Amino acid sequence: MDVFEAIQKRKSARSFESKPISNETLEKLLEAARLSPSAKNIQPWHFIVVTDPEKRKALSKGMFAKFLKDTPVVIALCGNEKASPEWYVVDVALAGENMVIAATAEGLGTCWVGSFEEADVKQLLEVPDNLRVVALLAVGYSVEKMNLTAKLNHLIRPRKRLDEIVSWEKYGNKHESSKGASKVAEV
Ligand SMILES: Cc1cc2nc3c(=O)[nH]c(=O)nc-3n(C[C@H](O)[C@H](O)[C@H](O)COP(=O)(O)O)c2cc1C
Repeated sequence: MDVFEAIQKRKSARSFESKPISNETLEKLLEAARLSPSAKNIQPWHFIVVTDPEKRKALSKGMFAKFLKDTPVVIALCGNEKASPEWYVVDVALAGENMVIAATAEGLGTCWVGSFEEADVKQLLEVPDNLRVVALLAVGYSVEKMNLTAKLNHLIRPRKRLDEIVSWEKYGNKHESSKGASKVAEV
């Protein structure tokens, strides 16, 4: 699968088979994270891989995180705020997205989860004070089933069109190609 195909194919997955993920595959995802860019190459990240069912249950307390208890692997994406105060969130998010795309190419489903109490997660996973928990990433072999959250999210807010989110040369300039020609046109 090429990268663009993986990007197109990726959809948040919230129902998973109980099939475990091999260590080799997990390491590939973690390697994808390790190779991602970071401001000044500080690499202010740490990834905690959680498979223990009790811990996953504890991580699923958030209103939009209930499915984590039935997700084979949850990865806590942590960032070192002291090491890179300005950029740790960006760096950790980039590493997380690298993982997401690599996972898609490996035939896995993922879901980025922001629904958690950071203090609870830190206590549960014994995360040191200098690290922040940026996100939880659900990973597993997805069951092709769109749950209610996904249906609602896609119905209420479908993907914006490219011409709604792109300007050329300055804000508001639309590319003529979106009107069938190739010049930059002012709107
Ligand atoms: C920062 C962030 C936080 C999110 N938090 C949650 C969450 O807590 N629970 C959940 O089910 N999905 C969560 N999502 C997934 C989004 O709902 C999902 O990406 C969006 O609806 C678009 O759907 P798609 O990923 O299938 O394209 C989150 C995504 C992002 C980027």
